Amino acid sequence: MTLDALAQKYRAAIAGAADEAVLEDLRIAAMGKQGEISLRMRELGKMSPEERMVMGPALNALKDEITSALAAKKAALADAALDERLRAEWLDVTLPARPRRQGTLHPISQVTEEVTAIFADMGFSVAEGPRIDTDWYNFDALNIPSHHPARAEMDTFYMHRAAGDARPPHVLRTHTSPVQIRSMEAMGAPLRIICPGGVYRADYDQTHTPMFHQVEGLALDRDISMANLKWVLEEFVKAFFEVDHVELRFRASHFPFTEPSAEVDIRCSWEGGTLKVGEGDDWLEILGSGMVHPKVIAAGGIDPDVYQGFAFGMGIDRIAMLKYGIPDLRAFFESDLRWLRHYGFASLDVPTLHGGLSR
Ligand code: DAH
Repeated sequence: MTLDALAQKYRAAIAGAADEAVLEDLRIAAMGKQGEISLRMRELGKMSPEERMVMGPALNALKDEITSALAAKKAALADAALDERLRAEWLDVTLPARPRRQGTLHPISQVTEEVTAIFADMGFSVAEGPRIDTDWYNFDALNIPSHHPARAEMDTFYMHRAAGDARPPHVLRTHTSPVQIRSMEAMGAPLRIICPGGVYRADYDQTHTPMFHQVEGLALDRDISMANLKWVLEEFVKAFFEVDHVELRFRASHFPFTEPSAEVDIRCSWEGGTLKVGEGDDWLEILGSGMVHPKVIAAGGIDPDVYQGFAFGMGIDRIAMLKYGIPDLRAFFESDLRWLRHYGFASLDVPTLHGGLSR
C-alpha cells in the first residue's frame, strides 16, 4: 500500500470514529508496536540512503498527520459529549423548590407574627429593646429595688464584671418589661406598644428553659383604665385562639410595676386531652397585667399625674404550646429537624387577621 493510500485509509477511519475507544484502536493499528506505520518505520533501516532520504520524512509527516487527526477528533468527540449533556441535563431554575426541601417557620416566629398582627389591628406598634440590659432598666426602673424578693425569684443571669469596673451591672433581661421604660423614654406619651422578644432565667424543666419569649404590652394616655385592658385582652384572646366567644377572669395579684395587678385566666376545657378555649369548667392562666405603677411612669420620664395606663406580659412560648398542642417547651430550642417539620409553618403564609392567622 502506498503511503498516500495508508493516509487516506486512516483519515477516513478517524473521521468516522464514533467514540474514544475506536480512536484508541486506530492509534494502535497505525502507531502501536505492530502498527502499520511503525512497521514501515522499522523498514527504513534496510533501505538505501537515497530511498531513506525520501521515505523518512514522508513517514514522519504521515505519523504527525495521524497523531494530530486523532487528537482533533478526540476533542471534537468530547465537545459533542458535553453538548449532549448540556441538552439532556438542563434545569429550569425558575421552577418552585421541591416542597420537602422547603424550610418552615418556627412556632415561636409564627406566634410572634400572629400576636403582632392582632395588636397592630388595635393600634399597637412594635417596640424592641436590648436582651442585655442594665439592672436599672430590668429592675430598679420597674420599682424592683435591689433588696426586693422579686430579684431573687427571677433567677437572673448577671454578666461577668471585672473587679473595679465602674459601669452599671448588666443582666440578661429576665422579662420584656424593661422595654416599657425604654419606649417611654424614646417616645413619650400617649403610647401604645407591644414588645415581643427573648428573655432569660436560670431554670430548666418541661415548662422552663433558660431562654424563652415574652410579649409586653403598654398603653398610656390620660384616661386609660382597667376596662380598656379587659377589652383589649378579650379581643386578643378571641383572635389568637380563633374563637367567637371567650371568658376572662381577673385574679388579684401582685407585681411591683403595676398597681392594682391582676393575673388573667381564660375559661377552657381539656376534654380528650385537647384544649378548648371559651367553654368548660377549667381556667387557664395566660398572663400578668395591671395599671402601670406611677413610679414606673415617672422612671420613664412621663408625669404620672397626667398619664396613666395598663401593661401586661405574656409568655409567647406558652401560648404557642397551648394553641398548637406542643407538649414540651425544651423541644422549641433543640432544632430537631423532624420536630421543626412537624410543628413548623409554611414560610410564605404571613398571618393576617383578614387572611387567617394560622392557615
Ligand atoms: N414581667 C412579668 C414577668 O415576667 C410579667 C408582667 C406582669 C408584665 C404584669 C407586665 C405586667 O407588664 O403588668 O413575670
